[in-house]
Amino acid sequence: METIKEGREKDMVEELKRKIINREVKISVIGLGYVGLPLALEFAREGFEVIGLEVDGERVKKINRGVSYILDVPSKELKTQVKEKRLKATSKTEVLGKVEIIIICVPTPLRKTREPDISYILEAAQNIAHYLKKGQIIVLESTTYPGTTEEIILPLLEEKGLKGGKDFFLAFSPERIDPGNTQFTTRDIPKVVGGINPESTSLVYTLYHQIIREVITVSSAKVAEMVKLLENTFRAVNIALANEMALLCDKLKINVWEVILAAKTKPFGFMAFYPGPGIGGHCIPYDPIYLSWKARAYGFEARFIELAQQINAYMPHYIVDKATLALNALGKPLKNSEILIVGVTYKRDVADIRESPALEIIKLLNARESRVSYHDPYIPELRIEDKIYKSVPLNVETVRDKDCVLIVTDHLSLDYGLIAQEAKLVIDTRNALGTYRDKKIIPI
Ligand SMILES: NC(=O)c1ccc[n+]([C@@H]2O[C@H](COP(=O)([O-])OP(=O)(O)OC[C@H]3O[C@@H](n4cnc5c(N)ncnc54)[C@H](O)[C@@H]3O)[C@@H](O)[C@H]2O)c1
Repeated sequence: METIKEGREKDMVEELKRKIINREVKISVIGLGYVGLPLALEFAREGFEVIGLEVDGERVKKINRGVSYILDVPSKELKTQVKEKRLKATSKTEVLGKVEIIIICVPTPLRKTREPDISYILEAAQNIAHYLKKGQIIVLESTTYPGTTEEIILPLLEEKGLKGGKDFFLAFSPERIDPGNTQFTTRDIPKVVGGINPESTSLVYTLYHQIIREVITVSSAKVAEMVKLLENTFRAVNIALANEMALLCDKLKINVWEVILAAKTKPFGFMAFYPGPGIGGHCIPYDPIYLSWKARAYGFEARFIELAQQINAYMPHYIVDKATLALNALGKPLKNSEILIVGVTYKRDVADIRESPALEIIKLLNARESRVSYHDPYIPELRIEDKIYKSVPLNVETVRDKDCVLIVTDHLSLDYGLIAQEAKLVIDTRNALGTYRDKKIIPI
């Protein structure tokens, strides 16, 4: 038989669900970056009052003026929600005591020692703990190693006596957003939720179901944390395999792109991944390391992850070697050669250079005293090792007078015909000039 206390707890869960469905709850999203801002906007669009908590004062000001700094978030839509008073931002942590729902979307980078740095999550959790009140729902979206929600955040939140899963609710729900991808937006990407107890899972399921078509529940927060790391490790390992194939095909004098595109015609049992100049962004280079670090604590060596890291990290070196050899064949040393880098972001059609392989390639070229310039429509200025570069236009003059054009990122808007026609030599790391056949165009 149900006790009076259990009955009251059940009532609280049902009452919270009713309030979520009727938009009677306020939401605070902590960290308004690539993940947090689109999420905050989506909740606002669906009629929730959202108050973002962001440490960067400039970002706070921009949001409150309706000006977006994230490419996938149009200022027009942001402005509408700000005007309708459904979305605003603040740097004041007091907001955490005035909302029913808190979603953590802060960065999870690596330390210099290449170990997980969860200090941003800890800071966010400490701020929540300070204002924690009965009936609050807390969700962690930042990618992290299995156990973070239950073993680190939960005890921190319980320090003042409230009990997780009864007085407040806690879950992990990984973010799967793919910046620059217009085919799949927040609403269309199924969301996984794992709470610290069934009530937490069920509440967070109800919450996300208001903005996302399909929500999948798993048995624990740990499982949800692992789901995200499996997804990103899968990508890192398969990209590494494609890179290894590229290195091997180079030896065998086979075009790796032709191989992959033909293999891709198999309707089952094969999924195409492509080689490139290396991996970048805030996820693929970091997330698998969160997992291998955790594995080590259990005496387990995650060998696939380590190997994938090694192969992917080697790619910028391989690209520079490829350019060196190609220039050499034309009787030119790399030293003093004019190299135009096309695309410096970590992937196409985003304005994000975090961990971009282009940065490593430029450093390597500088170390070998070549003369580097770049073009990227999304990045007007770039600072590398105290040197400031400005994006040069991509036109007949800038392409024709270079010794080598190195395509690192294949933004869709670029004029590849111009490059194919005017460049003396092209190292194409993305098969951007795949349809052009010429001795001077060297694919990886
Ligand atoms: N970028 C992606 O494509 C992507 C995709 C899926 C998951 N993720 C994960 O989501 C998380 C966030 O990534 P992101 O790319 O949005 O990072 P980001 O750097 O773009 O945004 C994080 C924001 O949090 C703010 N911030 C940091 N500490 C704060 C604090 N204590 N209080 C308030 N604000 C704070 C920063 O100023 C920044 O604006 C990471 O764990 C990442 O791995 C990212």
